[in-house]
Amino acid sequence: MHVPVKDGIYSVGAVDWNLRDFHDYETLRGSSYNVYLVQDEKTALIDTVKAPFTGELLRNLSELTSPGDIDYVVVNHAEPDHSGGLPEVMATCPQATVVCDEKCVGTLSTYYDTAGWNFHIVATGDTLALGARSLTFLEIPMVHWPESMVTYIPEDKLLFSNDAFGQHYAASARFDDEVPLDVLMAEAKTYYANIVMPYGKQVVKTLEKAAELDIEVIAPAHGIIWRAHLGEILSAYSDWAVCRPAPKVLVIYDTMWKSTEKMAQAILDGATRPGVEAKLFWVRATTATVLATEVLDAATIAFGSPTLNHTLMPKAASVLTYLKGLAPQGKAGLTFGSYGWGKQGPGDVQGYLEDMKFEVLRDPIVAQYNPTAEVLDECRAAGEMLADRAEELASAAAQQ
Ligand code: FEO
Repeated sequence: MHVPVKDGIYSVGAVDWNLRDFHDYETLRGSSYNVYLVQDEKTALIDTVKAPFTGELLRNLSELTSPGDIDYVVVNHAEPDHSGGLPEVMATCPQATVVCDEKCVGTLSTYYDTAGWNFHIVATGDTLALGARSLTFLEIPMVHWPESMVTYIPEDKLLFSNDAFGQHYAASARFDDEVPLDVLMAEAKTYYANIVMPYGKQVVKTLEKAAELDIEVIAPAHGIIWRAHLGEILSAYSDWAVCRPAPKVLVIYDTMWKSTEKMAQAILDGATRPGVEAKLFWVRATTATVLATEVLDAATIAFGSPTLNHTLMPKAASVLTYLKGLAPQGKAGLTFGSYGWGKQGPGDVQGYLEDMKFEVLRDPIVAQYNPTAEVLDECRAAGEMLADRAEELASAAAQQ
């Protein structure tokens, strides 16, 4: 089915209700691959879908137009969740011209046989007249691939933002005033943390460019369209782009015989106070998707692992490797863990924090086999230190 977005502009993509794994990002609410049809004297399709949904896209299109009427297929981003349907769309609409930036041409050619396709290469500031309205293109490299681009219709004050401002959120509703705002913002935050977080500097530049545009509608390529709550999502992106810290302490750990868990609980007890949100997560009871989202706005983090086979435990290593790739900015933290005869576990965790350029607040807290009362006191004091630093970092960020 198709859904009108504005006069002559329709949402014609597909909802992926059953998606639960997006390259290891746990997508509990599914997703959608949003495609937009712009009808004027010329007709443009903005992006396509993940390959298995191409039939649904073509059926939706057939409700509004015939394949021979598609003049342009804009490819804002070459990742296959948006370009997978392109070969079949181009086979169905052979007269259409693919509109994308130069880097995108090369990337598409690695995935598909593009030899017979017409390309119109655009760069930032270029426009393409469709009739009464036009498309303006803005490259946003590394938000989140090199060829990433957004497309703006000034006459409709509408931005096709592709991945930016998206959410993995399957819904029958299409607009932000038709779904619960708290759920929408939570999904947008999860999406940002797990997809966009490494590219905060580029997001800041993108937001500066977007501020020069008069925008009433942001139509992303995943999830819900923003038309009523632009202020909320733009403000949130400003915070997320710099990992702006809240007064929030995370205690994340793995454990073998509950010794490291006792230490984690003592750290949490020390960090618990009014005005500070302190949370505890066992890595084998929580997904990396959730942990990355929690890390985005946490000020301080304690990460613990006992020593297992001369290093940290495997799930802890997996989570830390994931977080390291997401490169959270401006965090402070410390490490802890039990050991039997080698202290490598907590030490190796500290190596990850250093790699992520954390402000490391102290040496690892260790306990041989089982924490003594003195070690648990040390953990409680460390929790207080984490809460103190979280309040300082959040206060400093609030004044910026
Ligand atoms: Fe939704 Fe980067 O693809």
